[in-house]
Amino acid sequence: MKGIILAGGAGSRLYPLTLVASKQLQPVYDKPMVYYPLTTLVEGGVREFCLVSTPHDLPRFRQLLGDGSQWGLSIEYREQAKPEGIAQAFRIAASFVGNDPVTLILGDNIFYGGDAFHRAFSDFRTGATIFGCHVNDPERYGVVEFDASGKALSIEEKPARPRSNHAVPGLYLYDNEVVEIARNLKPSARGELEITDVNVEYLRRGTLRVERLTRGFAWLDAGTSSSLHEASAYVQTIEKRQGIKVGCPEEAAFRRGFIGIRELEALVARLPNCEYRAYLESVAEEARRG
Ligand code: TTP
Repeated sequence: MKGIILAGGAGSRLYPLTLVASKQLQPVYDKPMVYYPLTTLVEGGVREFCLVSTPHDLPRFRQLLGDGSQWGLSIEYREQAKPEGIAQAFRIAASFVGNDPVTLILGDNIFYGGDAFHRAFSDFRTGATIFGCHVNDPERYGVVEFDASGKALSIEEKPARPRSNHAVPGLYLYDNEVVEIARNLKPSARGELEITDVNVEYLRRGTLRVERLTRGFAWLDAGTSSSLHEASAYVQTIEKRQGIKVGCPEEAAFRRGFIGIRELEALVARLPNCEYRAYLESVAEEARRG
């Protein structure tokens, strides 16, 4: 499965932070925000990536992530000239997707815990898999309504009167039909190609799966100053208490077998003396000890 990281947008709610560096390059505790969604997909087994961002920000992402080969990945880059909707990513990246299934993750979504994603990636065959997560403020998101048996009944984008508290987080898995579905979409009233319209089309075709994310799972979106601060505090709490890192692509690539112990050690050797290096050294040492 191929992976698209959508990391464009205006970032207007984070102004003036986003005057110089885009939202997804901002720090979330001890690393750039985009490390978290990248790591989520690497943990799901994705190796081939396309990062979509603004012409202004793409050079920074290239500087940060390179061609991905250092982590056993390949990363291509494509421009989104204007933020005309999340589903536009499938048009922009159509040649990258080719005939494969594809997952899309939003560059400002941070996920932690549970094995729901792991299962979703390994079980995925056809159709679409999206998720439903209980939140306080569903009206800010796509909202999914379930029947008594847990089957999805409806999905609505930012409804004034949400039919449930289950919002759809920014991670979506699709078969290759998504390319054709996105090609045929019409812009919504707010002028965007809506990811919710893609999901509604899969629902109409009877091939949409919506997995409910239950307790033990955290979904953070870091789009406002408060939520950015909260995401940092959350990551700091987990990392300090548990002695593990969240959103560490080197570690995820190593655990997935995309790089071996020698490559991990070579990466570590190139890092300056810092806490991140000490952590990766401990990952490598533990692996050596078996
Ligand atoms: P939003 O948070 O809805 O938008 P934004 O990032 O432009 O922020 P603001 O509302 O403060 O101006 O977007 C969600 C994610 O999707 C975010 O990571 C940016 C990304 N995105 C794009 O890259 N291109 C787009 O066309 C849209 C709509 C979103």
